[in-house]
Amino acid sequence: MPTLLSVIGRLASATLLALALLPGPASSACAERPAAIDEAKFTLGPRHHPLGRPLPASAGFNQPDRCVDEIWFFDQNGNGQPDPGEVRVFGANRQVDCGSCHGESLQAKSAASASVFLRQDAAVLCLVCHRL
Ligand code: HEC
Ligand code: HEC
Repeated sequence: MPTLLSVIGRLASATLLALALLPGPASSACAERPAAIDEAKFTLGPRHHPLGRPLPASAGFNQPDRCVDEIWFFDQNGNGQPDPGEVRVFGANRQVDCGSCHGESLQAKSAASASVFLRQDAAVLCLVCHRL
């Protein structure tokens, strides 16, 4: 007869094992520091989208699945790298910055989107983060 204590012990180690094996969100070691917004950016360029706000952990937003070097990104091709065509947020606070949406990329397929260096075509960009 296993004692209650040994059963609890086994459950605990099984849980630890499961946690270790799950891919889960990348470890916090990747993005330990909150990103700071460069105040100058508030006066730079058009004021089209809020900057410096964290991605809310709410039903209205998708959450990026991977993190490398302080960058959280939506790893749509699953290669583990923040590719130019992948939307990103920065630091432990998952903050939106210009580079979340802008960057030279082949995935800005329409001429209009490519001309303003969107990481992805405007037709799909918003819904990478926003969930309607
Ligand atoms: C959430 C996504 C997003 C973020 C963040 C963002 N942009 Fe944009 N940006 C867009 C989109 C979409 C367009 C194209 C629509 C348009 O032309 O207004 C655009 C267009 C532009 C344009 C050219 C069009 C124009 O209106 O002059 C400039 C310049 C620009 N962005 C600069 C910036 C700068 C600088 C930042 C940071 C301070 C920034 N953007 C942050 C999505 C974003
Ligand atoms: C990188 C992720 C990301 C992308 C891409 C993105 N958004 Fe957002 N959006 C956010 C975050 C984060 C907020 C702030 C939410 C908050 O503070 O509650 C926000 C807020 C907004 C708001 C509310 C503005 C306000 O003042 O509260 C609107 C409108 C909006 N986004 C539209 C868009 C549109 C249109 C696009 C595509 C051009 C887009 N977003 C692309 C992350 C994103």
